[in-house]
Amino acid sequence: MQTILILDFGSQYTQLIARKIRELNVYCEIHAYNKIPQLTADVKGVVLSGSPYSCNDAHAPVPDLSQIKGRLPMLAVCYGAQYLVKMGGGNVLPSKIREYGRANLQYIDNSNPLLKDISPNSQVWMSHGDTIERVPQNYKLICSTDTVKYAGYQIEGEQTYAIQFHPEVSHSIEGLKMLRNFVVDICHCDQSWTPASFVETTIADLRQKLGNDKVVLGLSGGVDSSVAAMLLNKAIGKNLHCIFVDNGLLRKNEFENVLESYKDMGLNVKGVDAKQKFYDVLKGVTDPEKKRKAIGKTFIDVFDEEAKQITDVKWLAQGTIYPDVIESLSVKGPSATIKSHHNVGGLPDYMKLKIVEPLRSLFKDEVRRVGRQIGLKNDLLSRHPFPGPGLAIRILGDITPQKVEILQNVDNIFIGGLKEHGLYDKVWQAGAMLLPVQSVGVMGDERTYENVVALRAVESNDGMTADWSHLPYDFLAKMSNRIINEVKGVNRVVYDISSKPPATIEWE
Ligand code: XMP
Repeated sequence: MQTILILDFGSQYTQLIARKIRELNVYCEIHAYNKIPQLTADVKGVVLSGSPYSCNDAHAPVPDLSQIKGRLPMLAVCYGAQYLVKMGGGNVLPSKIREYGRANLQYIDNSNPLLKDISPNSQVWMSHGDTIERVPQNYKLICSTDTVKYAGYQIEGEQTYAIQFHPEVSHSIEGLKMLRNFVVDICHCDQSWTPASFVETTIADLRQKLGNDKVVLGLSGGVDSSVAAMLLNKAIGKNLHCIFVDNGLLRKNEFENVLESYKDMGLNVKGVDAKQKFYDVLKGVTDPEKKRKAIGKTFIDVFDEEAKQITDVKWLAQGTIYPDVIESLSVKGPSATIKSHHNVGGLPDYMKLKIVEPLRSLFKDEVRRVGRQIGLKNDLLSRHPFPGPGLAIRILGDITPQKVEILQNVDNIFIGGLKEHGLYDKVWQAGAMLLPVQSVGVMGDERTYENVVALRAVESNDGMTADWSHLPYDFLAKMSNRIINEVKGVNRVVYDISSKPPATIEWE
């Protein structure tokens, strides 16, 4: 398969380069600059990413480009561009003027294939502390802004192109066109990597890899495990054994509804009611991390017990997606530490199963496109993310079946309301929190002393940062009325108006 390699020097934008190239229906992979794989004939070109480092730093990343430079087309972005200048004997110095934000390309060599059809004055996004002062002799200038002379260059006699701005960022208005010029015209990729081609090759690969072996997979109701299951189902049919565990912490009626959908999809799925086991281990546990650990461990126990009943199972399938893979490969992503607590727990070694991960190379939006391609129902495809530990981390303090029921009812009104009012698809994630706080209220002539719930709805791209959704007041008023009237035990509703950071999406 035609592939573009992206060498990561730790820039926050590296994933975005990959996503943009894939938007062009060209497959690409991110690799750390110091772990370049053996190149095969499939590799059609290489992109060097930006970096938080200066190429003059003592510990600046230094890649070994011996099998790449001058042999394969290369596009160096930002740090990459500066690194190549330094390597060739030019000068890179701390910039004296601001080189951050929007800028316009005042000089553009449209005869250069990278800049074909780029409009005069095209807006680009700069983000660097250093700047290129002097380039080596054989580096030919191809574009400039009024303050940055060497906005881009090509090394003569090579298919090596470099730009100091970021084509992957949406503020670079024609950035995608430049990436297209690179991957299509310069690297000659044929843009054939589509959801349909992915489905076809993945099914063929799975058949070949798995043969007649049995595979077990844990379904969660989320998009990733559902799409993974559908691909495997198409590849190996009844040899795929799916397990869907009711941990008693799912949304109201979720277990029954989702199980039904899975059966409709033709999946060989077993629903396991393990509610009581989870409630037992969670009894009296208030610390969020202890809750997560207890849930993770109990899930493994339940899953393991079920998996053992399938004779001769050889493989464990997982819905791992590309961002998870990148996190474990990445140079030094701050994201790795922020999200570490989300790993509810791996599977125990004693299961001794081989791992198959059909979605390992896909971003979340690509998983959705693939899901749509293979006919996953819209209500499964467009679901908000839902945390593995479920409502347990939305009930602050200890967990009881009664509290779960209250929260399920509140959540059901809120999520149902978002759907009815056409707001569900406008927010990235929504839910309700049951607070360990009681407050005074009046109902009729009675004084009440009952629970407070907080509603939370956020806008986000990836969950790493988020802003609270500005839901209409009228809608919030309706939700509050309905919740207080319909859910016994709740007499006060508040709306969470905190952004992440400094708050998080979940309350625990
Ligand atoms: P936070 O609360 O860290 O959440 O802003 C970011 C995203 O991660 C989800 N989340 C979890 N997902 N296990 C999960 O599978 C967890 O323990 C967990 N904690 C938070 C959260 O729902 C949001 O989408």
